[in-house]
Amino acid sequence: MEKIVIFGKGGIGKSTVAANLSAIYALSGKKVIHVGCDPKHDSTVGLVDGALIETFMEKHARIFGVRDRQSLGPRDLLVQGRLGIDCIEAGGPEPGVGCAGRGISMMLEAFQDLDILKAGAYDVGVFDVLGDVVCGGFAAPLRKGFAEKIVIVVSEELMALYAANNIAKSVRTYASNGVYLAGLVANLKDGKADRKRLERFAKLVGTKILEYVPRDLAVREAEFAREKTVVERSPKCPFSKSLRSLAAKILAVKKEKCPIPTPMNDKQFYGGW
Ligand SMILES: Nc1ncnc2c1ncn2[C@@H]1O[C@H](COP(=O)(O)OP(=O)(O)OP(=O)(O)O)[C@@H](O)[C@H]1O
Ligand SMILES: [Mg+2]
Repeated sequence: MEKIVIFGKGGIGKSTVAANLSAIYALSGKKVIHVGCDPKHDSTVGLVDGALIETFMEKHARIFGVRDRQSLGPRDLLVQGRLGIDCIEAGGPEPGVGCAGRGISMMLEAFQDLDILKAGAYDVGVFDVLGDVVCGGFAAPLRKGFAEKIVIVVSEELMALYAANNIAKSVRTYASNGVYLAGLVANLKDGKADRKRLERFAKLVGTKILEYVPRDLAVREAEFAREKTVVERSPKCPFSKSLRSLAAKILAVKKEKCPIPTPMNDKQFYGGW
């Protein structure tokens, strides 16, 4: 099973990229599980006909205290989305209350207990993980051996690269768990952005840019329509073409070809490059 984890700064396009990757893999006949690790629980919206599914944390409150844990199975946690994709969202606490990362840890523990990712169950798992991993909760997929192939979504903006540099630090920290950085996805805000700078950044961090994804109105249209992913709704648009190329490249990346990342320290990062 390929366990692909999409990380990146808030609002950078993680969920958009992740949901469309899941759809592409499912359309190609693979059995896919899509795991939203974000309290906003919106990663699977495009995969379940625009619905917000009951989150793991909500299910946990409803079921786990009432039913014997032994009687629970994967179907109690997973929601069948379109294209046969199994979907789950960690969910999280009310804003301002509790720790959002805890929901992710609890969900991953339940994955272990119920053996949800057992061999043969899925060809591909796509994890969509919030933020820039300053909080250990969001690094749970790296720590607990769920994540393997890390893909970081960036843009040409400095803070997106700062977050990517931080995530690369987490990948380096957990490299002994089998975690490796497959590459960056440049989800460009401006088509004329300086790609050379992005290439320089990738080289310094010891990775590469897998794909340049264009800004595309079709993404917003699909998001408002809330019924399908972009690749299903507008398969010929530039974004969909780019995502199909990315999907193939991610699968083709081999762990042996991915060195341990070499993130910059803050002084280097702000020193200019
Ligand atoms: N290539 C693109 N072209 C046009 N719009 C895009 C593109 N990528 C992302 N967007 C838009 O940018 C916004 C943020 O995207 P998305 O929700 O995927 O980001 P995110 O990283 O998951 O955010 P969060 O950290 O809040 O979960 C969305 O409204 C999405 O439609
Ligand atoms: Mg998101």
